[in-house]
Order: sequence, then C-alpha cells, then structure tokens
Amino acid sequence: MSDKPESNDTDPQDPRILIPGSEINPRREFLRSAALFTGTVAALGGGLEILTRRPGAGSAEAQGTDFVRPARLLGPYDTKEAVTPYQQATTYNNFYELGTDKADPARNAGSLKPRPWTVKIDGEVKKPQTVDIDTLQSWFPLEDRIYRMRCVEGWSMVMPWLGFPLAGLIRRLEPTSKAKYVQFTALLDPKQLPGQRSNVLDWPYVEGLRLDEALHPLTIMAVGLHGKVLPGQNGAPLRLVVPWKYGFKSIKSIVKITLTEKQPQTTWMSAAPSEYGFYANVNPAVPHPRWSQATERRIGELGRRKTLPFNGYADEVAGLYKGMDLRKNF
Ligand code: MTE
Repeated sequence: MSDKPESNDTDPQDPRILIPGSEINPRREFLRSAALFTGTVAALGGGLEILTRRPGAGSAEAQGTDFVRPARLLGPYDTKEAVTPYQQATTYNNFYELGTDKADPARNAGSLKPRPWTVKIDGEVKKPQTVDIDTLQSWFPLEDRIYRMRCVEGWSMVMPWLGFPLAGLIRRLEPTSKAKYVQFTALLDPKQLPGQRSNVLDWPYVEGLRLDEALHPLTIMAVGLHGKVLPGQNGAPLRLVVPWKYGFKSIKSIVKITLTEKQPQTTWMSAAPSEYGFYANVNPAVPHPRWSQATERRIGELGRRKTLPFNGYADEVAGLYKGMDLRKNF
C-alpha cells in the first residue's frame, strides 16, 4: 500500500483554495465576502453561516454538485492553514468497504448509492426514529468547518467540510438519563460496498464516542466537502468528523446512531485491541506500535511537521479528559 501524495493541483473553481502552501488571507477573504455578499444574501435571504442547496443537490445524480453558499469569514473553529486541494482529498482515502488501497475508494465509489438513504436513531433516546437523509439534513443549517485531519498512519490533510453539529441532532432526539455513549454504524451492503466481500475487517464498520465528546461543538456530521455534496469515497451521504481524534473515528456512510449506557465496541478495537483504543485522541506522546505519532506528513507537502496534542485542538477539548491517564486510555 503506497501513501505517496498525488499532484498538488488546486481547484480554480473553489474560492477557498489559495496557492498551495500559502495561508488563507483573512483580508482577501473579507474582500471576497464583501463582493459576493450583496448577491448571495439577497438570493438566499440567509445569514453568513446559513447554506442552502440547489434543488436536487442532495440526489444521487447530483454527486459533486456545488452547494449554494454565501462567502463567509473564518469561523472560530476554522484553521487558517492551507486547505488540501479537492483532487487530493477525494483520491487519497481510507474507506475499506471500497478497497484497501488509497486510490480504491475513488475508483469504486460509483457503486455506493447515497440516495435513497435513511438513518435509524435508537437506543437511549425519547424519540427513536428512522429518518430520511434529506429530512435529517433539512433540520439544520449547514456550516463550513475547516478542520485538520490526522490519520493514525502518520499523514494529515486540511478539510473544508460542510455539515452541522452532532449536538443539535442528539438534543433533538432527547437522550434519556441512561445515555452515556453514542455508537455509529456504517452501511452493510456488499453490493454497494465491494470491500465487504472480503473479511479484512468485521462488517459493518462501527465507531463510538462518549456522550460529552459527541456533544462537543467541534464534533460535526458532514454532508459536503469543498462546497460540493460529499463524494462517496469521503463517506456520502453522512459521516462523522471529530477533528481532535485519529481519522478512523470519523466513520463514513452512517446508517444508524444508537445512544447507549455502556461503552460501545468499535471496529478497530475488535481488529487490534492493543493498537487501537476507544478514545484515539491524537497524541504525539503515545506511539502506535507501527507508527511514531510524533510527526506527520501533510499531504501535498515535502518533509514532516510536528503532530500537536489533540491535533491542535487542546484548548477546546483537553478539559474533557481531566484526571484521565491518556496513556492507558489511548
Ligand atoms: N469509515 C468507514 N465506514 N470505513 C473506513 O474504512 N476509514 C477511516 C475513516 N472512516 C473508514 C471510515 C479512516 S482510517 C480514515 S483516516 C478516514 O475515514 C479517512 O477519511 P477521508 O478518506 O475522507 O480522508
């Protein structure tokens, strides 16, 4: 398995992408916002953070369609680091249900049908239900979030997601007093996901968070990337994004969300419990048996950079783990 980065092309259509290696320039962003503001706000009748979709943008045929999105200033959680170009973010992927090579998910994503799609929500909630993805999406305004993503394999990207905070969804379902964790289950369908015809992992892919992690404002459900509908290889139509944890926690193509009293099992804990823990917080001080976690290679860059505790989000999330030994709870 090669982890060689693809070329460093930028997407000229995407106003968020600047010259590779440069930083998003807040002044330039502001001027762009000012220029676009009149038309977009008038057209949408919405505020800066509110994004809407073109009719049919969520449909299967509309894969890759642009969202209608007013320009905006960087939000409080956005990194100013250079965004990973769309081409690289969508051709260098981990999605074992679509193959184990980094190029496989993009090659095989055509078999994954993101519409029609329902998400079952059950367990310790007062309002269990099965909801159509378009209805679920209509409950929340979409927000841009530019997050670092650090894979346990030692590479990283900067991803401009579109999504909504998971907290809003959980609160809407009204957790019972027994709810302590959230389990996420990905699609199980070997016809759509050819990788499930091999037993490289136990299927379906499952992941979990502690309830306070799930409610944290950094935790989002993503439905878009780079202003477009989320491509299959990145986890269409709905994936989790938890930016302070290794990428494997950010489960793709979710069909079920279950609130539980007990800590749920996760796919990678079942596969190799000594290598992958439940918490999986990015931690340069705790090496993985096969990969140092001290440094990382940012896709599109030469050389390596230092990995930051909690992937650079320590100010926001370190408090969640006060008093815990993060060497034991890795
Ligand atoms: N979700 C599912 N269902 N199956 C997977 O194999 N791989 C994980 C995570 N989510 C995976 C998954 C891993 S290891 C990583 S690093 C990220 O997805 C990669 O996300 P990206 O391909 O969008 O960059």
